[in-house]
Amino acid sequence: MTDLILSLLTRRSIRKYTSEPISDEVLKDLFKSGCRSSTTGNMQVYSIIVTRDEARKKSLAPLHFNQKMITEAPVVLTFCADFNRFTKWCILRNALPGYDNFLSFMTAAIDAIIVAQTVCISAEAKGLGICYLGTTTYMAHKIIDVLELPKGVIPVTTISLGWPAESPEQVDRLPLEAIIHKEVYQDYTDEMIAELYHEKELREDSLQFMKENSKETLAQVFTDIRYKKDDNIAFSKIFLQVLRDQGFMNQEGNNSMIIS
Ligand SMILES: Cc1cc2nc3c(=O)[nH]c(=O)nc-3n(C[C@H](O)[C@H](O)[C@H](O)COP(=O)(O)O)c2cc1C
Repeated sequence: MTDLILSLLTRRSIRKYTSEPISDEVLKDLFKSGCRSSTTGNMQVYSIIVTRDEARKKSLAPLHFNQKMITEAPVVLTFCADFNRFTKWCILRNALPGYDNFLSFMTAAIDAIIVAQTVCISAEAKGLGICYLGTTTYMAHKIIDVLELPKGVIPVTTISLGWPAESPEQVDRLPLEAIIHKEVYQDYTDEMIAELYHEKELREDSLQFMKENSKETLAQVFTDIRYKKDDNIAFSKIFLQVLRDQGFMNQEGNNSMIIS
């Protein structure tokens, strides 16, 4: 087994970090391998914002619901879908850009997330710890202000990065049979669902979650506490407005991302 595969198989999210800084050289190595990732049409329609400054981390913290990794990690990376740079290049070179639409946002978001994951893999292979912060898409409108993101740029994910100060157990995964479909999608019967989630439901930590939240089933912990419908609707509305404000919701033909 290669070191890389071993690193992938043994990894887990790290949420506590030592105070040791991450050198510019280490960070540059991560970015070099990250930017070797596949990217749509080799356009590289993404940007990475590096936050080391304590004051800016303090400004970001509430936008990530005060998750302590933001202020405690030496480095916070915000990965952004970015058609600003590419659009500007097109205009400068007498080419008419057509990237002010939802599909282009998806293209750039996919590119940004692929880079993020490659940076994470590289970081973990070097012994660093990472944790993704899904709060990025909930609070994108405010993160845009703090990071001064122009039109055409939307934050899609964030990672906290540092040298590990904890060694947590790996958490479970569904069995591969739950995930892999041969040739075509094989939809799940109730019996299959029950079997595939059985082990997860019986885990000590799952039972603890249910008890702490006074819920009858583990699924209710997700639907009623962790990822609630009302929240999903409210944050969807905000994010759709972000897409409009940043110039990605013009499906009409005239260009709403022409940058002044
Ligand atoms: C897109 C995304 C968003 C996440 N957001 C958070 C978060 O806001 N806070 C957090 O503590 N962990 C977050 N995580 C980490 C997951 O909770 C973690 O990956 C999952 O529980 C599996 O644990 P593992 O990474 O240790 O295997 C996120 C992971 C992903 C991929």
